Amino acid sequence: MATPVDMIEVSGLTKSYGPIHALHGISFRVKKGEVVGFLGPNGAGKSTTMKIITGSMAPSGGTAKVAGFDVFEDPVEVKKRIGYLPENPPVYGDMNVESYLAFVAKLKGVSGERVRSQVEKAIEKTDLGSVRRRLIQNLSKGYRQRVGIAQALVSDPEVLILDEPTSGLDPRQVAEVRSLIRELRGEHTIILSTHILPEVQAMCERIIIVNRGRIVAEDSLDGLTNRMAGSLEVKLKVARPSAAVETALRAVAGVATVLKTDGGYSVNIQGTGGEAAIEQVAEAAVGARAGLLELRKEAVDLEDIFLKLTTSEENQVPGGVA
Ligand SMILES: Nc1ncnc2c1ncn2[C@@H]1O[C@H](COP(=O)(O)OP(=O)(O)OP(=O)(O)O)[C@@H](O)[C@H]1O
Ligand SMILES: [Mg+2]
Repeated sequence: MATPVDMIEVSGLTKSYGPIHALHGISFRVKKGEVVGFLGPNGAGKSTTMKIITGSMAPSGGTAKVAGFDVFEDPVEVKKRIGYLPENPPVYGDMNVESYLAFVAKLKGVSGERVRSQVEKAIEKTDLGSVRRRLIQNLSKGYRQRVGIAQALVSDPEVLILDEPTSGLDPRQVAEVRSLIRELRGEHTIILSTHILPEVQAMCERIIIVNRGRIVAEDSLDGLTNRMAGSLEVKLKVARPSAAVETALRAVAGVATVLKTDGGYSVNIQGTGGEAAIEQVAEAAVGARAGLLELRKEAVDLEDIFLKLTTSEENQVPGGVA
């Protein structure tokens, strides 16, 4: 079996827009054929990173390589290998879909005799057949988004960089684009960005979570879910919260954090202790004369992980993060 090679190699990227520090040293690698989801809330730095990888913008520091070519030393080699759906695609409104795709194909160096077949393939994959002769400016937002995806595909590039590929699509189109991206797996190396969790769950093998210009977690979808599988959140309601109660809860083996809530505590338990740990939490509360009124176990899912990573100041996940 061939050893997987790094198709994309990003190292220590920083970017400042004047006084705004958008990226604080982003490093990651993507292997050939991988589908990686770049997940983060608004303003996290997703689009900035993608613009740098595609050679559309210079970083303030750090390097990015695609197929071994540095994006700024060899921009031509890099652009040849990349299909890019930008966040705000440039509008060639006065061209029809077909001629626009042919124009992009030629621009991307697709040889004359292959232009027509490549355009046909892109139209078919993105289901644009019914609007192929319409002017782009007259298309609905969703169809324009599909044209954006089609132009990224038209040169059959090794690497696809898709910035929010399902943005602006209706639910049926979202499902279609997700299944299209699943079909493209293996044929292309793909990075897609999104701030929607189900999106990465549906399409990606690996997730890179970014927040405020930093990578706060990087793992396979399964790995990230598993990491939290041993984690339990227990909500307590007590009649008499006190420092002593809090100390007693913290002393229980496996308890990672104790947060004061309205009327009680939220206790996060790590490890495999599970039910035994819950019992000990209950005993600790009773032992500290908290006046235990209610104890509720809550499951932790990927949504919680994302919110934790992107809202807490420490950005910590059990097991350590990148
Ligand atoms: N041209 C610019 N000038 C000044 N600041 C910018 C510019 N582009 C981006 N920024 C800032 O850089 C930070 C990262 O922005 P970026 O667009 O990369 O985030 P994002 O993760 O793509 O967000 P979104 O989910 O909203 O698309 C933000 O604070 C943003 O305001
Ligand atoms: Mg963006």
